[in-house]
Amino acid sequence: MKTIGVIGSGIMGSGIAQVCATAGFKVWLYDVAQEQLKKAHASVQSSLEKLASKGKLTTAQRDQAIRNLNITTQFSDLKESDFCIEAATEKKELKKKIFKNLDSLVKAEVILASNTSSIPITEIAAATKRPDKIIGMHFMNPVPLMECVEIIRAKTTSDATHKTTLELTKKLGKTPVTVKDAPGFVINRILAPMLNEAVNCLEEGLATKEDIDLAMKIGCNFPMGPLSLADFVGLDTCLYILEVMGRKPSELLKKMVAEGKLGRKTGEGFYKYGI
Ligand code: 3HC
Repeated sequence: MKTIGVIGSGIMGSGIAQVCATAGFKVWLYDVAQEQLKKAHASVQSSLEKLASKGKLTTAQRDQAIRNLNITTQFSDLKESDFCIEAATEKKELKKKIFKNLDSLVKAEVILASNTSSIPITEIAAATKRPDKIIGMHFMNPVPLMECVEIIRAKTTSDATHKTTLELTKKLGKTPVTVKDAPGFVINRILAPMLNEAVNCLEEGLATKEDIDLAMKIGCNFPMGPLSLADFVGLDTCLYILEVMGRKPSELLKKMVAEGKLGRKTGEGFYKYGI
């Protein structure tokens, strides 16, 4: 395996492209939007710079990773991929369309993975003629720093596909955890209701947002409080995951999403951010 295609250059796609390029793979990072690709390239560069400045990468590794990363708006550039990881917007119909198009483009033996945080992998697999080669690779944000990747087997995923994906995950310097294909998988099944409860606590006036976050940081040793984490993940993403899981989202969460307060990415969620 030499070349990895990454589809979607948002926060997750660019992070995935970065770890693949750092692990020595040639990467094609595809997006429909040139502007978004330029932003992604700049953010990968700055992340690699930071890791090198902390001695986590040598300058040679940093430079090689940048050379390994190619950005493109041409879907056909993904043709030479030996493995593809899709990280497009979390919309079922869009993902199915991307998988159908990839299925017609890339070699028959290529595994197609989705970084979906909640959409059933079995449904995505059904959109292709290679359901045995479809698998979920759920990376965590921020991808360059987080160790875990949830590996989700569709009902149709073959043992060979699973094995290759586990090996690739380890080559990327990550630890795979295999889970069954059920709504929210394991991490979001537990995390999303917890974040929602934090929003309910705020809505009910149990404490200030700062105190809710502080309580969980120093009370449960969380690296960041749940409201900060919800802003970090994106409030629209939190809402979407809760809906896919059939959980009742907090009214405050729904209101904030309707107002376009989506967290860090829009500059305002529970907190304000300079963007
Ligand atoms: N690349 C390189 N360096 C990065 C980086 C990146 N992408 N992102 C952050 N950093 C750096 C920061 O710049 C900072 O550097 P500095 O020490 O020189 O200032 C360093 O990492 C540490 O960051 P911070 O000081 O801001 O804060 P923390 O010590 O709290 O670490 C964190 C940041 C690793 C994000 C930590 O807060 C954390 O683990 N938070 C929880 C993250 C989490 O739960 N992620 C999962 C979300 S759920 C998900 O992704 C699933 C999805 O489906 C919803």
